[in-house]
Amino acid sequence: MANTILVGAQWGDEGKGKIIDVLTERADVVVRTQGGNNAGHTVFLGQKKYVLHLIPSGILRRQKLCVIGNGVVIDPVGLVNEIQGLQKLGVKIGRNLVVSETAHVVFPYHRELDAQREVLKGKHKIGTTKRGIGPAYGDKAARVGLRMIDLVNPEQFAEKLQRRLKENNEVLKALGARPLSLKQVHAEYRAAGDFLKPFVANTVVLLHDAMRRGDDILFEGAQGTFLDLDHGTYPYVTSSNTTAGGACTGSGVPPHRMDRVVGVMKAYTTRVGEGPLPTESAEIADMLHAMGREFGATTGRARRCGWFDSVATRHAAMVNGLDDLAVTNLDGLDTVETIKVCIAYRIGRKRYDYAPNDVQLLAQCEPIYAEFDGWRTPTTKARKWKDLPAKARMYLKAIAELTGAKLAIASVGPAREQTILL
Ligand code: GDP
Ligand code: IMO
Ligand code: MG
Repeated sequence: MANTILVGAQWGDEGKGKIIDVLTERADVVVRTQGGNNAGHTVFLGQKKYVLHLIPSGILRRQKLCVIGNGVVIDPVGLVNEIQGLQKLGVKIGRNLVVSETAHVVFPYHRELDAQREVLKGKHKIGTTKRGIGPAYGDKAARVGLRMIDLVNPEQFAEKLQRRLKENNEVLKALGARPLSLKQVHAEYRAAGDFLKPFVANTVVLLHDAMRRGDDILFEGAQGTFLDLDHGTYPYVTSSNTTAGGACTGSGVPPHRMDRVVGVMKAYTTRVGEGPLPTESAEIADMLHAMGREFGATTGRARRCGWFDSVATRHAAMVNGLDDLAVTNLDGLDTVETIKVCIAYRIGRKRYDYAPNDVQLLAQCEPIYAEFDGWRTPTTKARKWKDLPAKARMYLKAIAELTGAKLAIASVGPAREQTILL
């Protein structure tokens, strides 16, 4: 399979977890390279549902090495809970999971600051997952963060934590929030550090050793292109590079070793949290929510829904260099009579073929739609391209063409077998 980067081509929750699980069959190593436990990747194996937050979705297949790379921010208490939770479900986790020693650590003051900043922003809030992601990446950029290597080293850790807590408690007090107890945070984090120590290693060396052996690596993106810190709808974004370049910086695998970029997108659009969503539609949201679909895997929030936006996915094809597309949730449109696809935006009489970078302008953009006849037949049992209704095939071809990448996978349900490989 060679080295493959998989990214979300929309606003996150495109079904990356499911597609990673499918592609892992042909990979040796699966690596998370950015984000933290703001991510929620859902994988169904039979009737069993697994939601992965920090651990690569590849963990559900045996004999695969899973790596949490240097670009990820790790809540160690959350990671311990996630490991133990999966173990309770019968997933084997031991030497098949390795955590980068240079990944930054998320602390309770990051979570508290995340929440307080949202309160301060009032109606301009981002709608974050409150997992402390923004403040943790902020500390990394400000060069005051603590890394996994600090967490697993008891001597250094106490002193470093004390310094960071002192400063952050001052900020929390000024914001009217309760300061945190050093003793409590230290005890909790040291326990997590002891538990995680056997998993922590130099993952850059490990990945390069794997490449020398000829292993195929799959890079599991979190969030999506429009949540990218540089290329998304700033400031309504997350704090990492969710686009393909993040896979290199977040793992230490250089660009010339990457062979293929796969963009995952839904056959329609969803977004959780605030910020513009040009094709948002109550009609499609009501329909999907009534089917019990589109509730967040991390926070349980109802996702905002809209029609497929090819202005957005074209941009994703550009900034990620998408080779292949995996289109998920095709079955979500099975009952729709007329399906709309956004082909450009307009504000008044001015047409936009690219999303304007000014979010205020983007919020004013109205979609220009093309319409497609719905197939109005269940697709969930399709396993091959020719099993799909002709109108569904036409729709898939059209959205791939409008995006400007090759259709490689179509997904018609959450299960592994509900996947059509082209
Ligand atoms: P991720 O964050 O990109 O991994 O996506 P999430 O797991 O947060 O959300 C995607 C949701 O869609 C999950 O509930 C998946 O089980 C589900 N899903 C993925 N592909 C399909 C599909 O083709 N059809 C249906 N019905 N559900 C799907
Ligand atoms: P996966 O990997 C969808 C959104 C939040 C909010 C913004 C910033 O499952 O696709 P943050 O907590 O990161 O500071 O929140 O980003 N967000 C996601 N939306 N899927 C995700 O991850 C997300 N991770 C963050 O809702 O709008
Ligand atoms: Mg998700």
